Amino acid sequence: MRTYRIAAVPGDGIGQETVPAAVRVLDALAGLHGFRLEWTMHPWGCAYLARTGTMMPADGLESLAGADAILLGAVGAPGVPDHESLWGLLIPIRRHFDQFVSLRPVRSLAGVEGPLRDGRPFDLVVVRENTEGEYSEIGGRLYRGRPQEMAVQEAVFTRLGVERVARYAFELAAKRSGRVASATKSNGIVHTMPFWDEILSEVAADYPDVELTPYHVDALAAHLVLDPARFDVIVASNLFGDILSDLTAALAGSIGIAPCGNIDPSRQHPSMFEPIHGSAPDIAGTGTANPIGQIWSSSLMLDHLGEREAAARLTAAIGEVVRSGSLTPDLGGSLSTAQVCDALISALTKDT
Ligand code: NAI
Ligand code: MG
Repeated sequence: MRTYRIAAVPGDGIGQETVPAAVRVLDALAGLHGFRLEWTMHPWGCAYLARTGTMMPADGLESLAGADAILLGAVGAPGVPDHESLWGLLIPIRRHFDQFVSLRPVRSLAGVEGPLRDGRPFDLVVVRENTEGEYSEIGGRLYRGRPQEMAVQEAVFTRLGVERVARYAFELAAKRSGRVASATKSNGIVHTMPFWDEILSEVAADYPDVELTPYHVDALAAHLVLDPARFDVIVASNLFGDILSDLTAALAGSIGIAPCGNIDPSRQHPSMFEPIHGSAPDIAGTGTANPIGQIWSSSLMLDHLGEREAAARLTAAIGEVVRSGSLTPDLGGSLSTAQVCDALISALTKDT
């Protein structure tokens, strides 16, 4: 039987609820499609930090390396500075395994009332650069606590880094609408962003059937709010992509449904799949977290592993369950995490 080794890191807060929920749904789905998922649970995160002094063990990355994929919940807990939790677990995984694409599909779902009045249905993907750009460790602080105190943070854009994420976006657009929107800000950021634009245009020359449109990121944000349906593939640097993908997730109605894949397209390393939401400490432990972001991310994982049919069936079941009104409170419903999973499993089994 086809078997995939999945390293699961539930992490903190609602990750402890959404990852087990996804495991239950995925195991049911795997049974229907003749494959098996071999789960290894890693108890890392802020509770682990409190016990041991680090977010994950020293050989943590090594122990993930043999997995076919990683399924992550969320990291972050009150009392731990967010940059410590993020840089102690999530960012090392993204970088060590060269997961240079953060793939963030978002579409409007029937049954979910988004914030846009009379919005046209939309279906777009943000392709965010995930390993360099504005999120760099280069910089420092001087003169702490003195009047001349200062901080410098350098953005790092490399030809290799920009080109490979651009190619990924063009390949994806070639399979979808043939349109790529690029987020730039070359009017204000005068070194890295013109460099980004140049490389995007060079790559575009290799894809005559794909149309590239650059937008300044501020204008792009405004266009997205006014009419997301005009966009298909959006390629952006690490920071711009982070912001735009939270925006697009919110346009879809809840941050609780949006998925994310941190992908190493070369497949030399395991890719990591996680919802875009965080650990939601305000609702953790109440059993009401929306599991759909986690489960949709799991569908991206199955697709990446080559289980395309199962992945498509899972996203179809998500659409069906949402349309039928089986919703958690963030979407205006009253179901628990477990009840939404039950509804998903019955939608999956009913389809056969
Ligand atoms: P958050 O995404 O955890 O929560 C924002 C709001 O959305 C909260 O009101 C929360 O209840 C709600 N929400 C989020 N996911 C939901 C779900 N599945 N179902 C229902 N409601 C949901 O973002 P916040 O509050 O800014 O951050 C909380 C912690 O999570 C922080 O420590 C932060 O650093 C961390 N975080 C971690 C991320 C990751 O692991 N990739 C990403 C974002 C934040
Ligand atoms: Mg974010």
